[in-house]
Amino acid sequence: MGSEQICIGCVILYTGQGKFHDSTRDTLDFVVKQSKDTIYNLNNVLDILATSKGIGVDQFSLPSSMKNNIDRVDEMISRAAKSLDFETQNNEKDIKDVLNSVRLALIIVAAVMLLLALLGFLLSIFGLQVLVYILVVLGWILVTATFTLCAIFLTLHNVMGDTCVAMDEWVQNPMAHTALDDILPCIDNATAQETLFQTKDVTFQLVDMVNKIIKNVANIDPPPFPGVLNYNQSGPLVPVLCNPLNADKTDRKCHVGELDVSNAAQVWKAYVCQVSAKDICTNVGRLTPTMYDQMSAAANVSSGLSHYGPFLAGLMDCSFVRVTFVRVHKDHCPKLTKYSKWVYIGLAMVSAAVMLSLVLWVLYARERRHRKYTKLAVAVS
Ligand SMILES: *[C@@H]1O[C@H](CO)[C@@H](O)[C@H](O)[C@H]1NC(C)=O
Ligand SMILES: *[C@@H]1O[C@H](CO)[C@@H](O)[C@H](O)[C@H]1NC(C)=O
Repeated sequence: MGSEQICIGCVILYTGQGKFHDSTRDTLDFVVKQSKDTIYNLNNVLDILATSKGIGVDQFSLPSSMKNNIDRVDEMISRAAKSLDFETQNNEKDIKDVLNSVRLALIIVAAVMLLLALLGFLLSIFGLQVLVYILVVLGWILVTATFTLCAIFLTLHNVMGDTCVAMDEWVQNPMAHTALDDILPCIDNATAQETLFQTKDVTFQLVDMVNKIIKNVANIDPPPFPGVLNYNQSGPLVPVLCNPLNADKTDRKCHVGELDVSNAAQVWKAYVCQVSAKDICTNVGRLTPTMYDQMSAAANVSSGLSHYGPFLAGLMDCSFVRVTFVRVHKDHCPKLTKYSKWVYIGLAMVSAAVMLSLVLWVLYARERRHRKYTKLAVAVS
């Protein structure tokens, strides 16, 4: 008696804690992955910017003031990526430690309670009253502990519910700083804004530089004297790149005949000439292989930077955090709240069942002894 209820409670508790552990781990993995993706993208942007500093043809290259700006952004991004990485790893480790301890505690509770149920059942069947009393004292201590654990889990359940609500509220009003900053911090606005501005500036300047080379060097028929502008270029004119930005960094529409940065390298291949040892074209063509390589690299960098444009804009308004929270709220919160509820209900059931059993065992053991005495008394008389 009472033991069945304890067993049922233990089964709910055990199943609940397993599912709770899995869903918290999934949530954690998801948030960590979002953070790692962001760091990965930030590092890609860094790589592209670093490449852009080395691009240049003869007297054409990025202005040196821009190289300093790139260095500054480089440092800001590195710092942001490192701090995001540090906080993510710290949080991940802390949360995993807590989860593992909670899991262990709950499994131990379920196991000890099952053992208690078995012992209590056996002892009261055999009427070993003294042992039953010892078990009862032990049982009370355990019940107090499980009730406390139950209260903790009820609180955890409520905190999870509140956090899920807070995420939803944060998504509606993302600029409000809350405790959620500890879960997944936004990149600070200054860094994001500066990075976005510099990537746009680099894109604009690189395309501008390439177009200047095309218009002022490659497409000019060579002057009679030898020099930078004369490398015996000839043949059809090289098409210019489409600059995706105006000088004021607003979006610009491409004109007809302008090349997209993503396929420019492919198209320019047709305009490359063979060169002598002195870098002079020996057949028809307007681009030396060196020029082609540098121009392709510039187009590649611009293409890479525009690819990361939306990502960088997302960093600025913190939408990567918002996306994460929307997904957590939608995909993870229902499970988290449901299974934390299972755990505290399991704990409550086990506690109540053990309490009930304790009373029953005492009564039963006392009655058996009483019956023994009555039998003895009847035999004597
Ligand atoms: C210059 O290019 C033409 C082809 O356009 C070629 O016939 C000529 O040999 C080249 N001159 C030199 C010095 O290589
Ligand atoms: C273009 O850039 C990517 C990185 O964005 C790099 O992996 C690739 O090698 C570059 N290609 C050329 C031709 O420079």
